[in-house]
Amino acid sequence: MFHKALLPLLASVAAIASVDARFPSKAELHAKQAEAAARIRANMPRATGSGVKNITFSDPRASQFYVDGTTIPDVDFDVGPSWSGLIPISSDPNETRKLFFWFFPPGPQGSLDDLIFWTNGGPGCSSLEGLLQENGPFQWSLGQARPTQNEFSWTNLSSILFLEQPVGTGFSVGKPNVKNENDVAAQIVGFFQQFLDIFKELQGKNLYLTGESYAGMYVPYLANYIYEHPTDLNLTLNGFWVSDPVLGWDVVQEQIPAVDFVHKYEGVFSFNQTFLAHLDSVAEKCNYTGYVAKHVTFPPKGLLPLPGKSTEFDHGCDVWDAIFDAALLVNPAFNIYRIFDTWPILWDVLGFPGSFPQQQSPIYFDRADVKKAIHAPANVSWAECSDVDVFPRGDASLPPAFTVLPNAIEKSKRSVIVHGLADFILIAEGTRIVIQNMTWNGKQGFHTPIKNDSFVVEGMGAMGNTHTERGLTYYEVSLSGHMVPQFSPKAAFQIMSYLMGFRDTP
Ligand SMILES: *[C@@H]1O[C@H](CO)[C@@H](O)[C@H](O)[C@H]1NC(C)=O
Ligand SMILES: *[C@@H]1O[C@H](CO)[C@@H](O)[C@H](O)[C@H]1NC(C)=O
Ligand SMILES: *[C@@H]1O[C@H](CO)[C@@H](O)[C@H](O)[C@H]1NC(C)=O
Ligand SMILES: *[C@@H]1O[C@H](CO)[C@@H](O)[C@H](O)[C@H]1NC(C)=O
Ligand SMILES: *[C@@H]1O[C@H](CO)[C@@H](O)[C@H](O)[C@H]1NC(C)=O
Ligand SMILES: *[C@@H]1O[C@H](CO)[C@@H](O)[C@H](O)[C@H]1NC(C)=O
Ligand SMILES: *[C@@H]1O[C@H](CO)[C@@H](O)[C@H](O)[C@H]1NC(C)=O
Ligand SMILES: *[C@@H]1O[C@H](CO)[C@@H](O)[C@H](O)[C@H]1NC(C)=O
Ligand SMILES: *[C@@H]1O[C@H](CO)[C@@H](O)[C@H](O)[C@H]1NC(C)=O
Repeated sequence: MFHKALLPLLASVAAIASVDARFPSKAELHAKQAEAAARIRANMPRATGSGVKNITFSDPRASQFYVDGTTIPDVDFDVGPSWSGLIPISSDPNETRKLFFWFFPPGPQGSLDDLIFWTNGGPGCSSLEGLLQENGPFQWSLGQARPTQNEFSWTNLSSILFLEQPVGTGFSVGKPNVKNENDVAAQIVGFFQQFLDIFKELQGKNLYLTGESYAGMYVPYLANYIYEHPTDLNLTLNGFWVSDPVLGWDVVQEQIPAVDFVHKYEGVFSFNQTFLAHLDSVAEKCNYTGYVAKHVTFPPKGLLPLPGKSTEFDHGCDVWDAIFDAALLVNPAFNIYRIFDTWPILWDVLGFPGSFPQQQSPIYFDRADVKKAIHAPANVSWAECSDVDVFPRGDASLPPAFTVLPNAIEKSKRSVIVHGLADFILIAEGTRIVIQNMTWNGKQGFHTPIKNDSFVVEGMGAMGNTHTERGLTYYEVSLSGHMVPQFSPKAAFQIMSYLMGFRDTP
């Protein structure tokens, strides 16, 4: 009988013993790996683009932002032309608030008619994370020794604008002063006006707003703002993407589903029975147990109740933190953004975000040579998530599910909410609660159930669940942590293709 403990011994005698038949040879292993890699590359969804078109900008001011794709430090291939730098958020010549952007035109297969806007969350986290580790044309992801081409870059779909916002984030300069999400949206629109004045050739494009995490706040408010101020921008907003988004109350997206989540991934958490029993009793006492089974019905039976006395967890009901603390005892590398990580913690050129900062090398965007190459201010020290409070007195806006999200969906051609199933910082089941409690296009929630295994990634098979009703498509992506374009890039690419109308089905 095969026994794991004997593996090293058996492997060492494999060359002479007949038991080696049980172990794949190196060549066989490599063949399997190559087959898997070919599968992920097969049946790539395509944009409608046809051949290379070199985008050029006639305004002479554009040239000061030009980045030569052969000069990006440590990147040993030509990334192609791009433009980056600081642009003020208003036409006031004395404007001190400037946002840092990096714009990439479409690659050979991308469409010239569209413009994707991407923002990370935080608040205060830089969109250069998305660029370098999620959906940009080159990537330097966790554990990678050097940058590589990103085959699933969204530049294969169209052009993309990464923006570090609000003021106080990344390289952006000026004194942070936003009080709520409408201020943030106005700031971004102000930036866009100045940007489009220089990069005039981008005017009139179809716009797609995309972002992750706290951008669940930014993106719907920005979409709503643009729909409500139709003459502010010469762009046609068609739709939006939010992934692993903040859309509702924390107690809903973190606490209610947390113990169910632990049970679903019991083997990953590896908690002892005593602690599991403790979690169950707290969940019971706090009205988390059975919440989903009782209230997340299709259609919903009415508005969904809070489990306790307020929109926060009640005293003694913070299971999320208890789970995080206990997870770190069993697995010191436990990553709230992707629960499958184990020791050792992977090296990260951006220093974050695993659960913990990694500081043993210079942070890529904080290097003088990198700043110089991309026209970033030399005297701003860059951190992936800013220590500066970008909302000096907090964000006064309510979660968008209770305010602007319905309008943003109603006015969009398509809209997608995406959630990685291996994300613990925000839990997919909580996003289901948010959706079932929200009214858009005249009805509350989804009326027919979300079918298991309904999200089929071309060439790979079922990779989770998806459901569409009344202009909203919801996706749950198997094995993906918080950063869906990073951890499940092919799935993310397909979802974006759907959002942009390059494919008919989710
Ligand atoms: C695009 O520009 C590059 C560099 O200037 C040039 O080599 C290439 O031929 C151009 N391609 C097209 C299709 O114009
Ligand atoms: C800009 O600041 C200067 C010096 O403070 C001032 O004289 C000028 O009026 C300001 N311009 C505008 C448009 O506010
Ligand atoms: C993206 O473009 C590159 C370069 O043309 C290509 O190798 C890759 O297959 C494309 N990926 C997708 C997902 O279309
Ligand atoms: C908007 O952009 C289109 C396409 O570039 C252009 O033809 C049009 O003049 C612009 N409209 C305004 C009001 O600037
Ligand atoms: C459901 O929506 C209502 C009204 O919009 C809100 O008061 C309530 O807190 C929400 N419930 C949950 C669980 O988010
Ligand atoms: C749980 O729900 C019950 C019945 O609605 C309520 O009386 C109780 O206060 C709730 N428990 C907590 C911890 O909020
Ligand atoms: C069980 O897990 C809890 C929570 O992590 C911990 O406090 C306790 O010491 C563990 N018990 C044993 C026997 O390991
Ligand atoms: C950084 O440099 C810019 C341009 O040289 C200057 O205007 C700005 O005041 C400097 N900022 C800080 C914080 O030193
Ligand atoms: C769908 O999958 C979940 C596990 O992710 C399971 O608990 C549930 O029973 C399944 N539903 C159906 C209808 O099979």
